[in-house]
Amino acid sequence: MNNIKHTLNIVLLLTLSAAIYPAIKAFRSHEKKIKRNGSLADLIGNTPLLRIKSLSEATGCEIYAKMELCNPGGSAKDRIALAIIEDFEKKGMIRRGKGDIIFEGTSGSTGISFAMLCKAFGYTAHICLPNDTSQDKLNLLKMYGAEIEKVKPASIVDPDQYVNAAKKGAKDIASSSSDINAVFADQFENDCNWKIHYSTTAPEIWEQVNHKLDYFITGSGTGGTLAGCSMFFKEKSSSIKSVLADPQGSGLFNRVKFGIMYDQVEREGTRRRHQVDTLVEGIGLNRITHNFAKGEPFIDDAERVLDEEALKMARYLNENEGLFLGSSSCVNAVAATRIALTKANKGDTIVFVACDSGTRHVSKFWKHALDYDYTSDLREVVNCK
Ligand SMILES: Cc1ncc(COP(=O)(O)O)c(C=O)c1O
Ligand SMILES: *[C@@H]1O[C@H](CO)[C@@H](O)[C@H](O)[C@H]1NC(C)=O
Ligand SMILES: *[C@@H]1O[C@H](CO)[C@@H](O)[C@H](O)[C@H]1NC(C)=O
Repeated sequence: MNNIKHTLNIVLLLTLSAAIYPAIKAFRSHEKKIKRNGSLADLIGNTPLLRIKSLSEATGCEIYAKMELCNPGGSAKDRIALAIIEDFEKKGMIRRGKGDIIFEGTSGSTGISFAMLCKAFGYTAHICLPNDTSQDKLNLLKMYGAEIEKVKPASIVDPDQYVNAAKKGAKDIASSSSDINAVFADQFENDCNWKIHYSTTAPEIWEQVNHKLDYFITGSGTGGTLAGCSMFFKEKSSSIKSVLADPQGSGLFNRVKFGIMYDQVEREGTRRRHQVDTLVEGIGLNRITHNFAKGEPFIDDAERVLDEEALKMARYLNENEGLFLGSSSCVNAVAATRIALTKANKGDTIVFVACDSGTRHVSKFWKHALDYDYTSDLREVVNCK
């Protein structure tokens, strides 16, 4: 009797362990899967790729957004700020925790990414910008802890222009007897910019689409994203097309389509205050930067996008997807949709970049977007009747 009981107990025990062991194993591997990172910088990159159901169903293509707005600093600029800082560190030009200063001339997302990483690493971010930069952006930079230097709006040929002011600021400190080191980040000309998109953004997309890609679409501010990604994709397959999405008023569209661009250096110097006449911020330019030039041989096509189209797309994506996107992302979405409707084959995979969120565009782009009624006809949104 006792023997039988004993045997039963052993059987029970064995059964239990057999049942529990996989559970423990599952728990362990679940624990392994929980993401833990030791630094804010570790959270940069590996952004999601989101299938845009409404655009895909209406066009018959597979349209995806690379969600760069999911970076901790809210845009793709986190990648380049980190790459530039690490490059300076590798060259021994700046040291963490010593109060060394990183200068940049920017009124956009790059300043925010630098401000964030400078706090995380023990640097000072010194951001030069035109004195008519919106209060939204000034506040954001201030709250991220950047030093802000406002300069009067000027052309790129003017030594007081904000990019030149940043360059001069860094040089003045470097040539002084100060113990503090200073560098000029120079996102427009710096090779770290396109290289980080070549080595991270593009390979991530390539894996996320399971190596099936027909069109890659984005705008050009510095040109870094377009250059790095286009170069990578062309190496993967010459049939992958890279398309520039360009806002109204920018000269880059003509440059890609016809190989010509106004001699803008003079134009910029003489007239309009803004480089490009559009509500869209962060993309469009009337000069060729080093980063754009790097990518130029790999760009196949360009789409010009009107503000009105981008504004309607902003509403469309909000209504259908719950997305609240920034202006450049909406320009990219219009270009992607128009390519899908006019040039792509059914079933083609199209990826565009969602650069930043609508929260950075509340007082300008989105204020105007709210003036438009939601248009459910996608062909009308992108002017493809
Ligand atoms: C919001 C936004 N979208 C797009 C871009 C363009 O990216 P890139 O500088 O890589 O051309 C920028 C930066 O210039 C930006 O700030
Ligand atoms: C951050 O955490 C994820 C998930 O644990 C890991 O895959 C990734 O390599 C980490 N990044 C860094 C830079 O440590
Ligand atoms: C910017 O600076 C210029 C020159 O100092 C000045 O005339 C102008 O009023 C300033 N603009 C703003 C918006 O502060």
